[in-house]
Amino acid sequence: MLGDCGYATEVTHIISFINFKGGVGKTTTLVQVAETLSAINKYRVLVLDLDPQTNATIALIGEERWQQADEDKQTLAHLFLDKLDGTNNFDLEKALIVGVSNLKTRKIDLIPSSIQLVEAQDRMHEVAIKSSFTMSPMEIVKMELSGLFSNYDFILIDCPPNLGFITQNGLEVSHYYVTPVIPDVMSTYGIPQIIQRIEKYARTRKIPVKSLGVVVTKFNSSSTLHKSVVKMLPRQLAGYYTMAGASPALIFKTTIPQANRYSEVMDYTAQQISYKDKWGTGNSGSHALHYYPWALTQEILSRLEGEADE
Ligand SMILES: Nc1ncnc2c1ncn2[C@@H]1O[C@H](COP(=O)(O)OP(=O)(O)O)[C@@H](O)[C@H]1O
Ligand SMILES: [Mg+2]
Repeated sequence: MLGDCGYATEVTHIISFINFKGGVGKTTTLVQVAETLSAINKYRVLVLDLDPQTNATIALIGEERWQQADEDKQTLAHLFLDKLDGTNNFDLEKALIVGVSNLKTRKIDLIPSSIQLVEAQDRMHEVAIKSSFTMSPMEIVKMELSGLFSNYDFILIDCPPNLGFITQNGLEVSHYYVTPVIPDVMSTYGIPQIIQRIEKYARTRKIPVKSLGVVVTKFNSSSTLHKSVVKMLPRQLAGYYTMAGASPALIFKTTIPQANRYSEVMDYTAQQISYKDKWGTGNSGSHALHYYPWALTQEILSRLEGEADE
């Protein structure tokens, strides 16, 4: 059972953060949820950074350590490149960085990303031929890393903004996906495609991944547009899921406000900071800023608990 006292999960929950649009707050939300699960709820958390933009990696270990990991060829890009080049560089024991994040309380584990994921992505179709059809390009993470998963209560996966082979590697091992979205017209426009394409992928591949919900990010309470989109979104979403033949995963009640603080703290400069100081003590709306990532995470936990009871 999921509780707020930690160490209680018997299953590992694996959640991908996905939107085919960049800049919508995927990485920020993932880091917020990872740190809440770890520091506040005391769960054991692993982050897999599959996005070549490496933002989650930089936020959790800083640029210097990331460069070292990249030079040492111990990133998820090298896991894929090994399969493409016939090399043997990736060593899980070295690639797994334990105790990351600049929070002074509990720590997260990470397997970092690299910009070289771009090259890997472009060549992934070669995997099947190079392995004499013993390996599928979308099952490398599953084959190579799933032995590690039972050490964790939660695994959060940051995916690139497309449904290419790299994202597919994340989906193949995920139970759920969460879709962060900015409440403006352009950003919500793409949601039906995301849902339809992922649901179709899951059906074709016969994998269990399903939507845990849509989270509104970068909400600007002084924008009339944002307010009206947020109001209409729940009904629109229910329609999108039905059209995709999926059970409706609703919008999270917690919206993440637009706040400079959330951007500032993604650069890993502060050291040994408390959760509340990191995610902000200033107010936004009727709560302190640190309230919102916490509230979203508690909603994720209760949704998972609801799913388990079904
Ligand atoms: N709630 C927020 N308030 C203000 N800025 C944000 C917020 N969420 C994300 N950002 C900023 O917006 C940009 C994109 O966010 P990011 O999480 O990297 O999105 P994605 O992973 O979808 O590309 C970054 O500069 C980030 O710091
Ligand atoms: Mg990102």
